[in-house]
Amino acid sequence: MSLVTSKEMFAKAYNGGYAIGAFNVNNMEIVQGITEACREENAPVILQVSKGARAYANHTYLIKLVEAAVLECPEIPMVLHLDHGPDFETCKSCIDGGFTSVMIDASSKPFAENIAITRRVVEYAHDHGVVVEAELGTLSGIEDEVKVKEGHASYTRPEEVEEFVSKTGCDSLAIAIGTSHGAYKFKPGTIPQLRFDVLHECEKRLPGFPIVLHGSSSVPQEYVDMINQYGGAMPGAIGVPEDQLREAARSAVCKINIDSDLRLAMTGTIRKFMAEHPDKFDPREYLKPARANIKELVRHKLVDVLGCAGKA
Ligand code: G3H
Ligand code: 13P
Ligand code: ZN
Repeated sequence: MSLVTSKEMFAKAYNGGYAIGAFNVNNMEIVQGITEACREENAPVILQVSKGARAYANHTYLIKLVEAAVLECPEIPMVLHLDHGPDFETCKSCIDGGFTSVMIDASSKPFAENIAITRRVVEYAHDHGVVVEAELGTLSGIEDEVKVKEGHASYTRPEEVEEFVSKTGCDSLAIAIGTSHGAYKFKPGTIPQLRFDVLHECEKRLPGFPIVLHGSSSVPQEYVDMINQYGGAMPGAIGVPEDQLREAARSAVCKINIDSDLRLAMTGTIRKFMAEHPDKFDPREYLKPARANIKELVRHKLVDVLGCAGKA
C-alpha cells in the first residue's frame, strides 16, 4: 500500500470509537519502532514531521525513511503528515514533496487571520489531493518556536468551531481542552483533568467531523524515573492520564498526537544503557534497546489507549 490520506481512517475511527496515533518521527530508529509495533498490531498510523524534524533530518531523508516503512509494512495504512505547519510556504513544500496531510497552525493569530491562512492552505492542498488539519485555541508549552506560557493558553471556544470549519474547509480540527506540549503538563500536586465539556460541545456542533488532540503524551513515570536515576533531572514531569485519552478516543477525537513519550523512552533507555555499560561506544548497541522500548510503548498506546489495534 502506498501512503494514504487520513480521510477514510478518520471516518472509521469516528464510527468505531477509537483514535489513530500520530507519532512524530525524526530518525530511522523512531520510524522503525513505531511502524513495527503498528504492523504487529495491525494498526493504521500517522507519521508526522515537524518543521524542527525537517531542519534536523532533512526533508528527503524523512520522506525516504517513511517510504521504506511503507515497503516494509505494506499491510497497514500510513499517512505522512506535516505537524504544526507554520505558514503557507512550508505546507506547500510538504504537499509538493509527497506528504498526504498537512497541518496549518495559525492558532496564535486572530480568528479572521487564522481562517484566511487556513483557507489558502486548504485550497492548495485539496487541489493536490492532500488533507488539512487546522487549530483553534492555543495549548501551553512549545508549539514549534512559539512558546505559549502557562496561563496564556486558551481553551477552544465551541461557539467558533462551526464558522471556522465551514469558512476554511479544513478536514480535521485540533482543539485545546487542557492538553499541552512537552513533559510538564500539569502542576505537581494538582489533579490533571481535561475539559471534556469543551470537547463535547465542539463535537455536538460538528457532527461527524474529526477532532484532533495535540500534547497528549502521558509522560510515563517509569521513564521519568529512569532518566532521573541515570543522571537526568526532570522533577515534576507530569502528563495526561491515559484513561482520559481513552475516553477522548471514544468520542469525536480521531487523532491523538504523541511525541514526548517516545523521546522519554528513548532518552531513558540510552541513559540507562550508558550508565550500565561505560565501556561501550557502538551507537547500534544503545539505539537497539531504545528502538525496542519505543516499539513496546507504541504497542501499549495502540492497544490500551487509542483502541486502534486490529483496525488496519
Ligand atoms: O508539538 C510539537 C512536536 O512535539 C514536535 O516537536 O518541534 O521539537 O520537533 P519539535
Ligand atoms: P506531546 O509533547 O504531548 O507528545 O505532544 C506532541 C504533539 O502534540 C505533536 O504535535
Ligand atoms: Zn502539537
